[in-house]
Amino acid sequence: MGRKIAWGLLAFLVLSGLVFYVFAYQWPPVRDPALTMPDGDPAQGRQAIVKYGCSSCHVIPNVRQATGRVGPKLEDIGRQIYLAGVLPNTPDNMIRWIMHPREIAPLTAMPELDVSEQEARDIGAHLYGQGSVRQSRPGHGGSGGGHSPR
Ligand code: HEC
Repeated sequence: MGRKIAWGLLAFLVLSGLVFYVFAYQWPPVRDPALTMPDGDPAQGRQAIVKYGCSSCHVIPNVRQATGRVGPKLEDIGRQIYLAGVLPNTPDNMIRWIMHPREIAPLTAMPELDVSEQEARDIGAHLYGQGSVRQSRPGHGGSGGGHSPR
């Protein structure tokens, strides 16, 4: 009788330990999801990126013209922690930065481009990788030359 209780207790401890482990360490591991921009249209964003010439200063996935190296590459920015090293990367801050970079970082080389809020939202959706093949196919092609995204 006492043995039965002991075994039961042991089983309970092992099981609850397992459950705790799964929750505490997220096992099996899950990839942290990239940020997403609510109400942003990535296709419109892509057009706005070309229209405002973001492409002349930034490398941006799925925008062929975007090979500029004045500013940082914007690949995988949905997983970056800070924007421009000063703003926590959130959808709202992404919009703020795109609309008014100089209000946030007065010395930045990134110009005020008079981007509307909806356009900034759409651009953000594109930059966060929404609606792109990248999302369903993790791992980018590296710098391997000659691969032209549409
Ligand atoms: C004249 C060049 C230039 C243009 C045009 C430009 N940027 Fe930038 N951008 C920069 C520079 C330089 C930085 C780095 C800012 C800093 O760290 O202070 C930057 C930073 C950024 C960042 C933060 C990147 C990071 O890694 O933290 C985002 C997002 C961004 N730009 C988006 C845009 C978008 C969208 C447009 C078009 C509306 C645009 N930029 C147009 C030069 C430019």
